[in-house]
Amino acid sequence: MDVAWQMTLLLLLALVTAVGGAQPRTPRARTDLLNVCMDAKHHKAKPSPEDNLYGQCSPWRKNACCSVSTSQELHKDISGLYNFNLDHCGKMEPACKRHFIQDNCLYECSPNLGPWIRQVNQSWRKERILNVPLCKEDCQRWWEDCRSSYTCKSNWQKGWNWTSGINECPAGTACRTFESYFPTPAALCEGLWSHSYKVSNYSRGSGRCIQMWFDPAQGNPNEEVAKFYAEAMNTGAMPHGIRAQGSGS
Ligand SMILES: *[C@@H]1O[C@H](CO)[C@@H](O)[C@H](O)[C@H]1NC(C)=O
Ligand SMILES: *[C@@H]1O[C@H](CO)[C@@H](O)[C@H](O)[C@H]1NC(C)=O
Ligand SMILES: *[C@@H]1O[C@H](CO)[C@@H](O)[C@H](O)[C@H]1NC(C)=O
Repeated sequence: MDVAWQMTLLLLLALVTAVGGAQPRTPRARTDLLNVCMDAKHHKAKPSPEDNLYGQCSPWRKNACCSVSTSQELHKDISGLYNFNLDHCGKMEPACKRHFIQDNCLYECSPNLGPWIRQVNQSWRKERILNVPLCKEDCQRWWEDCRSSYTCKSNWQKGWNWTSGINECPAGTACRTFESYFPTPAALCEGLWSHSYKVSNYSRGSGRCIQMWFDPAQGNPNEEVAKFYAEAMNTGAMPHGIRAQGSGS
């Protein structure tokens, strides 16, 4: 096996150990890492075809964790899914907004996030995603297209004023450009949703990072990515497997 792959495996091993050690949990069965939906607010129990997925969620039509109504809802300015207002500091530019819609489509629709699903103790969901390796170009482009839009927070998962039923900037914060709250692409993609994503050093098309954007005519590239990481994680749980594989190359 080549050195780069060996390094990846070691990193993964360390990650699995770290996560498992810091946060005791009932792990999902190994067979549960592929083709699964997380147990959260709007996800279906199991992935299945959805011929009529709407707009930017349509790439997931062949196999999706989201329903048609979820896909429609998340294109609205204030979706009924979470009552979340992207325009909390004035109108967000459309070029920026489309990345948030795509981020939502990936979160709600993807059946390929199994290796990164973790249990959480939240009233509105039992599972979340943690450190999904987002392809670096997808993050870079998101950040570039949003630099000149406005926000008042660098973590959008918590700390809003929900008094009115819709997220508003909390007292003491100011609306400034994205760039001032998210100085780097990683600050945006990783900070925004409490580390749901981790910016990968891999590129789109590598088979080693999750793509938020893809052309469904070529199939869903994230299937292969989930398989790769699921296999590495399973191997990590079985030290004998590594030795066996290592001796083979
Ligand atoms: C989850 O939250 C509930 C209610 O706050 C609490 O009783 C329970 O101990 C928590 N469980 C864990 C594993 O943190
Ligand atoms: C929350 O927002 C409401 C308006 O919707 C405002 O009256 C209130 O002062 C805000 N509270 C804080 C703590 O910012
Ligand atoms: C990331 O990739 C670039 C280009 O392939 C390389 O120069 C750099 O060393 C890599 N960084 C890490 C942390 O692997």
